[in-house]
Amino acid sequence: MSELGSVAWPPEPIKTARLVLRGPEARDRAAFVELLASPEAHVYLGGARPRDELERELPAVPERWPGSFVVELDGAMIGQILLRRATEHRRPAAVGKVDLGYLFLPRAWGLGYAAEACAAALDWLDGVLPGEPVVLTTQSANVSSMRLAAKLGFTEVERFQAWDAEQWLGLRPPPTPPA
Ligand SMILES: CC(C)(COP(=O)(O)OP(=O)(O)OC[C@H]1O[C@@H](n2cnc3c(N)ncnc32)[C@H](O)[C@@H]1OP(=O)(O)O)[C@@H](O)C(=O)NCCC(=O)NCCS
Repeated sequence: MSELGSVAWPPEPIKTARLVLRGPEARDRAAFVELLASPEAHVYLGGARPRDELERELPAVPERWPGSFVVELDGAMIGQILLRRATEHRRPAAVGKVDLGYLFLPRAWGLGYAAEACAAALDWLDGVLPGEPVVLTTQSANVSSMRLAAKLGFTEVERFQAWDAEQWLGLRPPPTPPA
């Protein structure tokens, strides 16, 4: 994966009905530790990292790069959205395309926050890099993630075997410009 390309970063905070999307800040560090150390959030992602390692190794402002959004609810981080360029994806259909990832704290699941935030991030992408298709890879056993992908307009390209599990590669075509 590599960075998105030439986009102005960080953008002005993006407000949705309930959430704010913005670039990471130093005040998010504790929430990043919680998120990246959460076994529940990493069931389908190859396992969480040890909390003490994260406490030691995360920089003062974690995950600060173009396309890395913190999702905030009532002033506190509840999740992360990642938009990167899939330069080295193992499936040719995904290589070079923008790749969407998402990771939310378990206490924020089941409330529609991930869907609301991802839709806003994709809208932002459509504005700054118009015409880009977006890909997404998730384990097919990750039912919540599969449902979210469908809600966001991703459809199946293929399934493939990797990291000891069946993976689902989805694609969201760019929105059709108004006639
Ligand atoms: C994948 C993940 C982001 C999905 O989170 P989520 O909260 O289930 O997703 P959504 O935001 O779409 O919320 C969906 C649920 O909220 C419910 N909901 C409640 N209030 C809602 C509202 N106001 N608006 C919309 N949905 C609402 C929906 O009914 C739905 O419930 P259901 O799944 O039982 O039908 C989350 O499970 C996660 O962070 N997992 C760990 C990371 C991961 O596996 N990432 C995938 C690889 S990229």
